[in-house]
Amino acid sequence: MTEILPAGEALPRAVELLRAGEVVALPTETVYGLAGDATSGAAVARIFEAKGRPRFNPLIVHVASMAMAEDIAVFDPLSRKLAATFWPGPLTLVLPLRPGSVVHPLVTAGLDTVALRMPRGFASSLIAAFGRPLAAPSANSSGRVSATTAEAVVADLGDRIPLVVDGGATTVGLESAIVKVADGRIVLLRPGGVAADDIEAAAGMPLERGATGIQAPGMLSSHYAPGAAVRTDASGVSEGEALLAFGPLRIAGAERARAVLNLSPAGDLREAAANLFSHLHALDRSGAATIAVEPVPNSGLGEAINDRLARAAAPRDAPVVPE
Ligand code: TXA
Ligand code: MG
Repeated sequence: MTEILPAGEALPRAVELLRAGEVVALPTETVYGLAGDATSGAAVARIFEAKGRPRFNPLIVHVASMAMAEDIAVFDPLSRKLAATFWPGPLTLVLPLRPGSVVHPLVTAGLDTVALRMPRGFASSLIAAFGRPLAAPSANSSGRVSATTAEAVVADLGDRIPLVVDGGATTVGLESAIVKVADGRIVLLRPGGVAADDIEAAAGMPLERGATGIQAPGMLSSHYAPGAAVRTDASGVSEGEALLAFGPLRIAGAERARAVLNLSPAGDLREAAANLFSHLHALDRSGAATIAVEPVPNSGLGEAINDRLARAAAPRDAPVVPE
């Protein structure tokens, strides 16, 4: 049963659920978000599970202060100016991820950039009370439109999440604008709640467009490619390969592997999702030329895991495929 609480009363319960690694649907000024602890792989895996996303698209990290934001991402004068102008508010900045950041790699889908936003209202109070950043995509199941009322969230996701915080209809009503700031340039990745003209006026420079789509991670078939080659659905391990295992049983030749990490010894797909990007990175660092990956079942979160593995295994510089 989903609990529905008015925003004025929901804070303690929402904090309690987030501390327990649960997800909470909450109002922001743009659309309702499905929030979880951005530092917890298990919590972030639950977000993908509840949305039924067939892919691990990177999520926006929501913060309550500039101090929290600067702990997560590297700001330059331009991004700082945009944050000072539009935060809190409907602008998301894609910035270089700060090395050693507390944000879990599943949030960024293993990228070295992070999307950051400082929301208004209940979301901001909750982040401050929780004391950690919240990862939150829009609170709709995959392929549906974003929800702007608590009723729409309950109708769509109600049976899959423990709490929906009702803050009434959202004021902006469409998602945040997303810009990537790098090398003194600003690229509009998604038009949204702040008008492009207003961003240009604040930045004192034109926005680059056109790259929309191609820049969106998950669009490149070789998105998140480790340095090593990746061989999926492996039924054996060759000398010198690293092994990304799944479940309790080992494939033939596993003892020959240069390094072995298990996505989930118990065969739990949520645990596997939480470990996916960090394990790929770690095996890549082992120096093996190839990472052999044991078969992962395609049910539940397995579909998104297999999608990412297939992308990691795709020929490099492969053409863009539609989302
Ligand atoms: O208004 C909003 O932005 C809402 C509220 C809940 O904050 N959130 C939202 O999240 O719309 P979502 O997951 O539905 O869309 C996030 C978008 C995705 O298209 C994703 O590809 C992009 O942000 N994104 C996240 N991290 C990125 C990154 N490092 N580089 C480029 N794009 C990124
Ligand atoms: Mg969305």
